[in-house]
Amino acid sequence: MKVTTVLTAAFLAATGLAQNVSTFYNPVITGFHPDPTCKFVPELNNTFFCTFSSFITFPGLPIYASRDLVNWKLVSNAFSRPEQLPAIGTLQRGSTGGIYAPTLRYRDGQFIIFTTLVNQALYGNNYTRFDNFILTGTDPYNSSTWSDPIRFDFPGIDPSPFWDDDGTTHMTASFNGSTILQAPMDFETGEILGPLVSIWNGTGLPSPEGKSAVLSQSFTCPVMMPSPHIYKKDGWYYLLTAEGGTRERHRSIFARSRNLYGPYEGDPADPVLSGYLSQSYFQAVGHSDIFPDASGQYWAIALAVRAGYSYNFDPYNSIFPMGREAVLTPVRWDEGEWPTYQNVSGVMTGDFTLPQGSVPEEGEGGLSEADDVVNFEPGSKLPAHVFHWRLPVGVKKGNYAISPEGHNNSLMLLSSKLNLTGYDADSTRGQGQTFVARRQSHTRFRFSVDVDWSGLKREQEEVGTSAFMDQAQHFDISVTMLKTNGSGDLAPHIRFRGISTTTYRLPERFKYVDEAFPLPEALIGQKVRLQVEGVNTTHYAFSAGLGGCDEDTPMEIYGYTRGNYLVPYYSGVVVGVYSTSNGKYGEASHTAYVSRWRYTGLEQIRELPADQLPVYWD
Ligand SMILES: *[C@@H]1O[C@H](CO)[C@@H](O)[C@H](O)[C@H]1NC(C)=O
Ligand SMILES: *[C@@H]1O[C@H](CO)[C@@H](O)[C@H](O)[C@H]1NC(C)=O
Ligand SMILES: *[C@@H]1O[C@H](CO)[C@@H](O)[C@H](O)[C@H]1NC(C)=O
Ligand SMILES: *[C@@H]1O[C@H](CO)[C@@H](O)[C@H](O)[C@H]1NC(C)=O
Ligand SMILES: *[C@@H]1O[C@H](CO)[C@@H](O)[C@H](O)[C@H]1NC(C)=O
Ligand SMILES: *[C@@H]1O[C@H](CO)[C@@H](O)[C@H](O)[C@H]1NC(C)=O
Ligand SMILES: *[C@@H]1O[C@H](CO)[C@@H](O)[C@H](O)[C@H]1NC(C)=O
Ligand SMILES: *[C@@H]1O[C@H](CO)[C@@H](O)[C@H](O)[C@H]1NC(C)=O
Ligand SMILES: *[C@@H]1O[C@H](CO)[C@@H](O)[C@H](O)[C@H]1NC(C)=O
Ligand SMILES: *[C@@H]1O[C@H](CO)[C@@H](O)[C@H](O)[C@H]1NC(C)=O
Ligand SMILES: *[C@@H]1O[C@H](CO)[C@@H](O)[C@H](O)[C@H]1NC(C)=O
Repeated sequence: MKVTTVLTAAFLAATGLAQNVSTFYNPVITGFHPDPTCKFVPELNNTFFCTFSSFITFPGLPIYASRDLVNWKLVSNAFSRPEQLPAIGTLQRGSTGGIYAPTLRYRDGQFIIFTTLVNQALYGNNYTRFDNFILTGTDPYNSSTWSDPIRFDFPGIDPSPFWDDDGTTHMTASFNGSTILQAPMDFETGEILGPLVSIWNGTGLPSPEGKSAVLSQSFTCPVMMPSPHIYKKDGWYYLLTAEGGTRERHRSIFARSRNLYGPYEGDPADPVLSGYLSQSYFQAVGHSDIFPDASGQYWAIALAVRAGYSYNFDPYNSIFPMGREAVLTPVRWDEGEWPTYQNVSGVMTGDFTLPQGSVPEEGEGGLSEADDVVNFEPGSKLPAHVFHWRLPVGVKKGNYAISPEGHNNSLMLLSSKLNLTGYDADSTRGQGQTFVARRQSHTRFRFSVDVDWSGLKREQEEVGTSAFMDQAQHFDISVTMLKTNGSGDLAPHIRFRGISTTTYRLPERFKYVDEAFPLPEALIGQKVRLQVEGVNTTHYAFSAGLGGCDEDTPMEIYGYTRGNYLVPYYSGVVVGVYSTSNGKYGEASHTAYVSRWRYTGLEQIRELPADQLPVYWD
């Protein structure tokens, strides 16, 4: 049970008051789910819907639905056809480019997403790097009903629509990290109908390069994240924005005005939400969106990282491989007053009443923290929460196939020339990587697949599993054909290999492991189970064993890595399976079959363990 409502008898006896003490747990949607935006839709059976930034994953813009704010089901992906955004296939800078900060709204029977495809390979003031667009959908439970993009011209990010009482539509967005611009727009065509007006410049918080926390020189903040939303209540226009960059100073602030175009005055209580310099496990709290439930209780969804106090300081020594996750908090918003948020923590307790309701039956995916038992049965599809890094390579040529003839209950992978690092640990020059993955959704988890590697014949042909942050940070265990013993003979090996080269908030580092072990005799001619396990808050273990029907086959550990070698930029760790010839033989040079895809959540840690050791680098 994730929710408990406790009537405290002693308290009732003592005071005679009816007091509801409810509890729920954060994050409400765990793992790589940044920049949440949600909308309550009474018309669709009192259901809450949310979506998130998905950067370059495909499918992307996952839509989650809930009726109790605690159990969240993946119901569709608003970006599910490569033709919607073909540029995702060639974008560089995978860890910082792609789909940014959406806003999800519902109006007149239609869902509406405003968002931006950002090309971070273009610099600074070149505004062609911001491709702003709208997606609409009539059935949130069906991916194929989401529209193609309707483009609109705006030289910035974080666009958010607002419909005033007179029916006019306005677009509010962030420009240059320094101001919020707003203009009326024709929502059907995307045309901006008036001048962009600067309505808010923030509270003057120093930029992240400012004082207090000592930041490394190597890090430059690409853009601030003001993520504006406008709400109208009691005759006031409320402007909610983020501020302070994406890291430790990230926070939510309010301003309000009697007029949509200002002037806006700041909330004296700003920031309404922040984790800065707090002792909480939850840091960087901000980027919120608020909505009422059916009873009129307001809620905020926001992002946070489970990083702990050390997140505020360099040298950067906190470990939070799951990156930015979605947290929920009750909001008190009395008539004519500023809204106030309860502080975010792992266990949220207070005098609030969570809505009641069952998990929607409709939709394409499962609950956000559900385990995976995927057997790739004939006629099945990849689960809705499984995705590619950029667009899938060679889909039309059939680089992926479920249960192809003669290989029932397996996923066929034709290899890519590129491995997970690619050319430069960053781009793919328009080529693809054969890779399917899912989010790490638990602090402790186990992910495994069985691989049929019998199609690997030449040197450096490889099929493996990975704990993957981005092309510059991933650790893999695989079956790889190698010549290692001096005889010149090619033989299958278990290879544990990984790379971590990011300079994000760190002194420049280069961590590379590459260890190969001849495949044990017992695994020759057999399917091999490859496993990635999050063993605790600091370590991942990589192991291999005999594939097959036995769920509990003994596994041998071939290597460990620490979570601080998987540092989130904007995303979070994903686990998955890839196949490559490491640059040697072109596309589709060998075929591998994957079966028995399993993911088991073992533990969700919601408070920084007291015995967490300081991070060390080697
Ligand atoms: C407690 O919860 C019940 C059921 O949601 C509600 O009717 C009642 O008003 C709540 N009491 C208080 C003091 O909030
Ligand atoms: C901006 O980027 C586009 C696309 O790469 C390029 O064609 C254009 O010349 C650039 N503009 C400036 C001012 O650099
Ligand atoms: C999803 O939408 C598509 C396109 O409108 C439609 O063809 C399909 O039948 C729908 N699927 C379901 C399960 O409703
Ligand atoms: C963008 O913001 C910087 C300061 O953050 C400022 O120096 C620059 O003039 C701004 N550019 C534009 C086009 O407003
Ligand atoms: C924000 O700053 C810009 C540049 O200084 C200025 O042009 C604009 O009027 C300011 N906006 C507000 C609402 O003060
Ligand atoms: C909430 O967090 C802020 C910022 O960390 C802190 O100043 C404030 O005391 C907290 N409030 C409560 C009730 O814990
Ligand atoms: C509406 O929600 C209720 C409560 O969660 C549920 O019992 C019911 O089946 C839902 N109805 C539909 C049509 O989805
Ligand atoms: C594979 O699955 C298909 C579809 O269920 C079935 O018709 C076929 O007989 C199966 N092949 C084998 C070898 O089991
Ligand atoms: C080298 O590997 C081959 C193939 O596994 C094996 O037959 C041979 O005995 C090995 N030689 C040595 C010296 O280990
Ligand atoms: C990836 O492939 C390249 C060749 O394309 C190779 O040089 C590099 O060592 C490989 N590295 C990793 C970690 O995958
Ligand atoms: C986590 O697991 C690793 C590998 O077993 C171990 O070395 C490390 O001490 C553990 N850390 C904690 C905090 O338990």
